Amino acid sequence: MCGIVGYIGPQRAAQVLLQGLQKLEYRGYDSAGIATLNEGELLCVRAKGKLRNLAEKVEQLDIVAHVGIGHTRWATHGKPEEHNAHPHRDSRDRLAVVQNGIIENYRELREQLQARGHIFRSETDTEVIPHLIAEALPATPSANGLLEAVRQAVHQLEGAFAIAVICADYPDELIVARQQAPLVIGFGQGEFFCASDTPAIIPYTRAVLPLENGELARLTPTGVEVYDFEGHRLRKTPRTLNWNPVMVEKQGFKHYMLKEIYEQPGVVRTCLEDYLRADWDGDSPFSPVQLPLDPSLLENLQHIQIVACGTSWHAGLVGKYLLEQVAQIPTSVQYASEFRYAPPPLLPNTLTIGVTQSGETADTLAALEMELKRRQGLEGALQPRLLGITNRPESSLGHLVPHIIDTRAGIEIGVAATKTFVAQLMAFYLLTLELAWQRQSCDRPRLAELVTGLRQLPAQMEQILESQERYIEALSHDFAETQDFIFLGRGINFPIALEGALKLKEISYIHAEGYPAGEMKHGPIALLDAKVPVVTIAMPGSVFEKVLSNAQEARARDARLIGVTPLDEAEAQHTFDNLLPVPEVDELLSPILTVMPLQLLAYHIAARRGLDVDQPRNLAKSVTVE
Ligand code: F6R
Repeated sequence: MCGIVGYIGPQRAAQVLLQGLQKLEYRGYDSAGIATLNEGELLCVRAKGKLRNLAEKVEQLDIVAHVGIGHTRWATHGKPEEHNAHPHRDSRDRLAVVQNGIIENYRELREQLQARGHIFRSETDTEVIPHLIAEALPATPSANGLLEAVRQAVHQLEGAFAIAVICADYPDELIVARQQAPLVIGFGQGEFFCASDTPAIIPYTRAVLPLENGELARLTPTGVEVYDFEGHRLRKTPRTLNWNPVMVEKQGFKHYMLKEIYEQPGVVRTCLEDYLRADWDGDSPFSPVQLPLDPSLLENLQHIQIVACGTSWHAGLVGKYLLEQVAQIPTSVQYASEFRYAPPPLLPNTLTIGVTQSGETADTLAALEMELKRRQGLEGALQPRLLGITNRPESSLGHLVPHIIDTRAGIEIGVAATKTFVAQLMAFYLLTLELAWQRQSCDRPRLAELVTGLRQLPAQMEQILESQERYIEALSHDFAETQDFIFLGRGINFPIALEGALKLKEISYIHAEGYPAGEMKHGPIALLDAKVPVVTIAMPGSVFEKVLSNAQEARARDARLIGVTPLDEAEAQHTFDNLLPVPEVDELLSPILTVMPLQLLAYHIAARRGLDVDQPRNLAKSVTVE
């Protein structure tokens, strides 16, 4: 949801900014811009559309400046046009600002500024910021003039924002500030960086400092000073990330999404190595799971509530199924955006779990923060117990909640979540096993079956990739013109039907719906005819026969039926027109396998339609606004 970058140091700033923006393009890609300072002059270059449009303009200019800021936009206020692209400037064109977030009181501020003679050139909320800073600047530059002016300006802003500011009167400074939107500072050798996310910085340095809410910082060629919004200097030490730049490259794959689908067996393997005890068997006197959680977090739980959005919400639904059916704990799953405005009554001994791949989703963070506040100061059983599930433990989520399960998926660049989803599912399997062990809600032989089944998953996932990809690619040709898809599943595979539909619609722009198969006859069946393919997840287990009957009902309406199932062709011929085979596994573990053909189907249909798979229209990887 918009990405910002900044650079100060000996390199040519424009190049560093463009490279940084390229790594942040997943956050927004409807326009982009940079501003640089050279010999007391501010230069601002902006372009509508993808980053390459900006890069073409910048190349023609041969910019030598060593200080600059950049922005890639996901429009919130004002259409994606060049005049709305960041950076935005003050009336004198001496000062430039990039922002990620939303300034909620911008209308009021804009009216006040206009009444005082300021001229506005965009429809954005951001443009008030350079004007406010310009008003607060001293008449002649002073040692802390720009820093102090930014500090005064942020006090007038309401909402969530991360900003970076440069000013022609302060040629050796870059000021950044953060309030509820992510911002990381990178420490190189005699050069300093800032960005909305670490991939923009990691090619240059692994020493990073995430700013916290209510902090601002001054970056100069000699170092970084951090302050709080009251102006007090803070002592902060950067930490070293154990990432390498290759992790954010495509490594020969056509798209990040395909690379990330292929990374899934490795992610599951790492999760198992890190969190499942290798020496555990059904007779061991200890838990099969070793999660880095304080035991008090899970003691005497009576209720679990999960808050999340989008794909992470689907992971939460699988989690609910596991936690209720295996660990026997009543569990609710809420959209974070709904939860924050209609929280349920407080129940005692509740664990609240926030699930988010970016660790930055505004609604999820706000829901968790609200839960923390409403429980703080309450007695015993009502006190807050908060857990985050994420692949980005260094994110804002990591700062907000005291306990984190790092899903080990690492960074995901493709906007459509794939490996991070599978990793979230793994976190729920592990948490469920731990709770089932502690509460003795599941007998030893069953627990042992599940542990053995989990250990077999990576090889089974590899088998799907090896045997299925070519076939799915060929099959996707049949759907290049299709307008509607239905996905059916039941029980633990109902959320996978939702996820299959979401993957398809977000990257191929084909309308798709996921339903619990048993609900079809209560309405959605009216949609079916020969033009609407129905993808059905049919895994042997508690609802297998029921799902097959539901599929027959769809076939009787002429729908083309595609089965995600371990049935062989002879068994399946009366039900399905096409098969996407998956190995036969324990029904409870099957979502990790059944989601993979659906990811590949969505990917190949979108690629076949010539669409930008990694950066689908209107979407962003981190949704940092409400
Ligand atoms: C879909 C997708 C989104 C996210 C949602 C929540 O592929 O990625 O639906 O799942 O925006 O994002 P996080 O998990 O970062 O909170």
